[in-house]
Amino acid sequence: MTFVRKPYIAGNWKMNLDRSRALDLIKTIKGRLGDGSDREVAIFAPSVYLADVSAVAQGSPLGIGAQNFHFEDDGAFTGEISARMLREVGADRVLIGHSERRHIFREPNDWTGRKVRKALEEALLPVLCVGEKLEERQSNRTDRVLRRQLDAGLTDVKPDEMLRVTVAYEPVWAIGTGEVATPEQAAEVHAFIRKWIHNRMGGEAAQMARILYGGSVMPDNIRGLMQIEDVDGALVGGASLKADTFIPIIEFDQ
Ligand code: PGA
Repeated sequence: MTFVRKPYIAGNWKMNLDRSRALDLIKTIKGRLGDGSDREVAIFAPSVYLADVSAVAQGSPLGIGAQNFHFEDDGAFTGEISARMLREVGADRVLIGHSERRHIFREPNDWTGRKVRKALEEALLPVLCVGEKLEERQSNRTDRVLRRQLDAGLTDVKPDEMLRVTVAYEPVWAIGTGEVATPEQAAEVHAFIRKWIHNRMGGEAAQMARILYGGSVMPDNIRGLMQIEDVDGALVGGASLKADTFIPIIEFDQ
């Protein structure tokens, strides 16, 4: 397989694993990565493990990120973590607007834009997550929902910054359900997202921006997904918790 953009495979551990299993898994992944020239691999770990996990990942191209943060620099925000704090413990990237943040924790859509901006300012690579719920798809509102999420999340992003911003399309109905989007569904939405970027920021930005698919990605469906023109990688939840399932996803073309 040949790719226009560097494939990007990311694991989102969510609130899983204990410290020792987390570190073991990082060691295993690190041992399987080459020099990182042909693909980008990253793990989004629970924040309390970031310092240890990034220490173990040191010296390898493995990216280490957080699953969330707050867009303010400091202040009375009990329970929150700033972008600078994440940098300090070794994170180089961050997820923004994951569907569980949006739907379980009711994070407002307009926060995503402030977070993307702050991440860029603090040299964290943002992965903006977007995706429609089942009832939104069933009532033909997928495009409208995605447009609203992209408008908010990328509101302050300049075209040349799209090299550092990744968009992850994760249909909510496919997350943790075992139900993966069909190639046609994924192709259609990924093309829609790239077109949105093209219209808003021009052809060059659209050409360099990476768009990941997420939602029940497994070793047996990653190859098919990666063959879709506008799919540049995957955001993997459940299957990123074990080397047995995550390594074959990273090595999808081998
Ligand atoms: P899943 O999760 O792979 O377990 O469906 C994906 C995600 O939420 O990022």
